[in-house]
Amino acid sequence: MTDSITLARPDDWHLHLRDGAGLKAVLADTVQRFARAIVMPNLKPPITTLALADAYRERILAALPSGSTFNPLMTLYLTETMPALEIERASRSGHVHGVKYYPAGATTNSDNGVHDLTHCAEALEAMEALGIPLLVHGEVTDPDVDIFDRERVFIERHLTPLVMRYPKLKLVLEHITTASAVKFVLTTDSNVAATVTPHHLLYNRNALFQGGLRPHYYCLPVLKRETHRQALIKAVTSGNPKFFLGTDSAPHGRSTKEADCGCAGIYSAHGALELYAEVFDKAEALQHLEGFCSHFGADFYGLARNSQKITLKRQSWLMPASLPFGDDTLVPLRAGEEMSWQLMP
Ligand code: NCD
Ligand code: ZN
Repeated sequence: MTDSITLARPDDWHLHLRDGAGLKAVLADTVQRFARAIVMPNLKPPITTLALADAYRERILAALPSGSTFNPLMTLYLTETMPALEIERASRSGHVHGVKYYPAGATTNSDNGVHDLTHCAEALEAMEALGIPLLVHGEVTDPDVDIFDRERVFIERHLTPLVMRYPKLKLVLEHITTASAVKFVLTTDSNVAATVTPHHLLYNRNALFQGGLRPHYYCLPVLKRETHRQALIKAVTSGNPKFFLGTDSAPHGRSTKEADCGCAGIYSAHGALELYAEVFDKAEALQHLEGFCSHFGADFYGLARNSQKITLKRQSWLMPASLPFGDDTLVPLRAGEEMSWQLMP
C-alpha cells in the first residue's frame, strides 16, 4: 500500500476567490496547495474587461501571504457586448488565460451572462484565432428542463453546435457531473477538455438529503446520481489528459447557505488536494493522480508544468467544523469529519 506520494505542485483550473474580506479569508488555503489557479470572474460587478481583471489580480497579489509565488491566472466574464478588441488586449496582456461563459441565470452571479451565444460571435472568433480558451458553465437555464438534466441538455442543444461552428476553439467544460459530459469530452478533439471537482467525485445526490436537507452539499451543477459519479471516477482515473483538476471551491458564508434560499457553492480549498488523493486511492489509481493534478491542465493551457514538489501522506486528520470568513464563518466540505490524506508542510 502506498502511504506517501510526491507530485509536481498542482494547479487549480477552476477557483472562486471572491474579493475583500472573503478573498483574505480563503486565499491561503489555495496557496498552500496550488502554484496557480484559474480565477473565476463572477464578482459583483463581474470582471468583463482587461482593466477590471488587472485590478482584481493586483488585489489578489496584495492579499498573498508574504513570500508566496502563487500566480493567479485571470479570466474575463463573457457578455453579449464583448468586442473582439477586448479579447485581443487580454491576450496580449499575458495575464488573462480564459473567458468564462455563464448562461444568464445559471448560477451564482450569472445575471450578466449570455442569453444567446450567437450574439458573441465576434468574441468567439477572436478567441478561436488567438487560442484563448472558452470556459463553459454547461447548464441550460430553461425552467422546463429538470435540474438534474440541465448539463446533458446543454451539451445537446448548445455545446455540440458550438464545437461544430468553432472547431479550433479551445474549450473547457467546467465541473462536469454526468456520463453525458464524459462522453462528449471523449468524442471531441484535443482542444476540448473538462475539469472535475472533488465533490462530484466523492458524493452523489443522496448527500443533499442525508437525514435532512444539507445546504453545504448544494452547488451548481447539482450533485447527480451514483452512475454519473462512477463515470466521472472512471474518466479521471484513466489517465486521459482531457480531464484535469478544477476544484470549483466556491465559498459562501454559513448564513447565506443556511437560509430560506441558500446559495449554490461548496468550499473545498481547505482540503481539495487531499480529497482528490482519496478518490484516486480508493480507485487504486494513485499512479494517475499527478497527471490529473499537476500536468494535464498546464499542458492544455500551454503553460509550463511546475517544478516544485509537494508530498501527501496517508494520515488521518479532522476537517474543522467551520473556518473564519470575514464577519461570517465557512463550512468546508467534510466539515467535522475525518480526512485520510494529509499535505506535508
Ligand atoms: C459558484 C459560485 O458560488 O460562484 N457556485 C457553484 O455552485 N459552483 C458558481 C459556479 O461555478 O457555478
Ligand atoms: Zn465555479
